Amino acid sequence: EILIGLVGSEMCIRDRVKTERKLSKMEKVYLTKLAPNCGCAAKVGPGTLAGVLCGLPKFQDPNLLVGTETSDDAAVYRISDELAMIQTLDFFTPVADDPYDFGQIAAANALSDVYAMGGEPKTALNIVAFPKDMDTAILGEILEGGADKVMEAGAVLAGGHTIQDDTPKYGLSVTGFVHPEKFWKNYGAQTGDRLILTKPLGTGIVNTAIKADMVSEEAREAALKSMKTLNRYARDVLKRHIVHACTDVTGFGLGGHGTEMADGSKKTLVIDAKALPILPDVEEYASMGLIPGGAYRNREFAAKSGYISTAELWREDLVFDPQTSGGLLAAVPADEAEEILLELSESALSCAMIGEVTDRENHALEIR
Ligand code: CO
Ligand code: CO
Repeated sequence: EILIGLVGSEMCIRDRVKTERKLSKMEKVYLTKLAPNCGCAAKVGPGTLAGVLCGLPKFQDPNLLVGTETSDDAAVYRISDELAMIQTLDFFTPVADDPYDFGQIAAANALSDVYAMGGEPKTALNIVAFPKDMDTAILGEILEGGADKVMEAGAVLAGGHTIQDDTPKYGLSVTGFVHPEKFWKNYGAQTGDRLILTKPLGTGIVNTAIKADMVSEEAREAALKSMKTLNRYARDVLKRHIVHACTDVTGFGLGGHGTEMADGSKKTLVIDAKALPILPDVEEYASMGLIPGGAYRNREFAAKSGYISTAELWREDLVFDPQTSGGLLAAVPADEAEEILLELSESALSCAMIGEVTDRENHALEIR
């Protein structure tokens, strides 16, 4: 290993009461002020990434059911006819000022890639970067937030790795299980399918408003709540139905991940921009131009496969807004869509039918 581990893999999470007492005594630290980009908006753009990855050697293994070729959410490796292992990792810079919130969001986001494959998370490992001079009680809170989400997911936290770095970073490497013939790919959408999204859009825009000190309390709270919500509950509903393709909407935005689904499926996704579920006050912020840089990268990426739009500009920006711990985007048979939506709303999820799948046109996306 090139990097030096500060803390061994057996990390002790201090009990909440002790940490809170300590935190209340120390000066308030605004974690998001420490990072130029926050959450999934800090991702390297999909175009840049593809350019680097294409030069790497190709691995061949008949048991590797999902590898790097299809830009899917996680790798899937067959262990037996009954069992496949899902592996993924995700970490990023602070997306919330409160360390406990940040820990919960980063963990919910990392676990999400297992849910996006229709799988069940089993083990998780912490990935941590933390400044040398910062109060370790903050680190304790971040890890506790992560541990609580892993617990909620029914998985176990089994270790981790910590390095010194000027900007705090946190996330998880997650291993999950799924049946080797029943997992959800990010392609396979069929003509006539309906598109369902299980969380509101706009976390990138709200985070930009937070950085500009222009956010409303309502928008901040709604974004936090949404980012902390596990996609487990949406997966549970979708699992009871037929799903042709599924991915989670994160750093590349609905437009970027939707383009990957369209290209992989050799279809066109038609997005009804007026039907998109959105966080409070996002129209106001987006109209003011509070758009994160990642939204422009995502737009450029989608432009390569082609998109056409007749939607208002702010709604178009929303389509390309990089999401942190966003919802699942699923392509499902038209005759199942209503029932799925009903069950999702019974689980108190902010879901919507946001469009449909058509035969391939000259473009991957049509936003209207
Ligand atoms: Co994903
Ligand atoms: Co991911």
